[in-house]
Amino acid sequence: MNSDFLPLRRIDHVTMFVGNARQSAYFYRNAFGFDVVAYAGLETGVKDEAGYVLQQGEITFVLVSPLRAGHPDNQCLALHGDGVQDVALEVDDVRAAYAVTTGRGAVGVREPTVIEDENGVYEFATIRTYGDTTHTFVNHDRYHGIFAPGYKPIDPSRYSPTTRHPVGLKHIDHIVGNVELGKMNEWVHFYEYVMGFSQLVHFDDKDISTEYSALMSKVVQDGQGRIKFPINEPAEGRRKSQIEEYLDFYGGPGVQHIAMSTDDIITTVSSMNANDVSFLYVPQTYYEALPERIGRIDEDISRLAELGILADRDDEGYLLQIFTKPVEDRPTLFFEVIQRHGSRGFGKGNFKALFEAIEHEQMIRGTL
Ligand code: FE2
Repeated sequence: MNSDFLPLRRIDHVTMFVGNARQSAYFYRNAFGFDVVAYAGLETGVKDEAGYVLQQGEITFVLVSPLRAGHPDNQCLALHGDGVQDVALEVDDVRAAYAVTTGRGAVGVREPTVIEDENGVYEFATIRTYGDTTHTFVNHDRYHGIFAPGYKPIDPSRYSPTTRHPVGLKHIDHIVGNVELGKMNEWVHFYEYVMGFSQLVHFDDKDISTEYSALMSKVVQDGQGRIKFPINEPAEGRRKSQIEEYLDFYGGPGVQHIAMSTDDIITTVSSMNANDVSFLYVPQTYYEALPERIGRIDEDISRLAELGILADRDDEGYLLQIFTKPVEDRPTLFFEVIQRHGSRGFGKGNFKALFEAIEHEQMIRGTL
């Protein structure tokens, strides 16, 4: 096992570049139930971009928008639309993490950097992963500010910090990347060799195909099994797969979805529905076959059916999951809400129903 050369504590935060961070913060606050806790921008001495830090449970999102035409994020925005820039990983030792990963072939984006301000010392370094996506190694053990240098607690006249619409999301369960046809194994190798991850499970086109389209997926996880990154690639099908549609509209590889866990998916999804989050529609026939497939579960299946929540069981237990529609105009990034009752799987039994639901949406978009 080579899983201990890069000890990772957790996903620290996920940074997204967005066209208008102020308005995106409103969406994630009011629809997804995040609190807006910190801000960086002109008023805090940051001259080239605005950033908003949102928190819920253990989950931190940072929304960043460029303030001027010369900012490099403008190219990302033009190419990709709003998307995930960086998945930051908390480490004990930023220098060691950067040295070992670049030594094993990772492309460095930002060398180990130490920023000191009145709140302490903040250390980070960044490497590339698929597409324009990056991983930042971060350590803020000696930093006591609200988030990072440049950030101040949100000014309540700019934003009321606390959402009035809590939904109960707890932590990030997994983050999925879409890569080009034939590239999945390269990126699995990157996570194994460069990052010390190991392969947890794989799904091929026999698991994940419908009448029209197919995809392949492998899941890698860190040495502790806390961080899980499935990697998808399109497979040959009769029509354009959802992965090809993503690659086409995102302009290359990138993060497809972020799964966030809850302890009570019925309450979480009911609240998100009330907050106008749009979820993928699953036909009612799915629920006719469900009791036989899933066996006894704590939840009322008729409630799952009303909300469109999917269920799957394996040897270890069961899980409940639901997927939002893309949260931008481009059919790119979306979110999953998941509640695990013992199962550590990814809902293999739901793939067919789910992909047929996505194809229904593709049909409406004219991209199937
Ligand atoms: Fe997922």
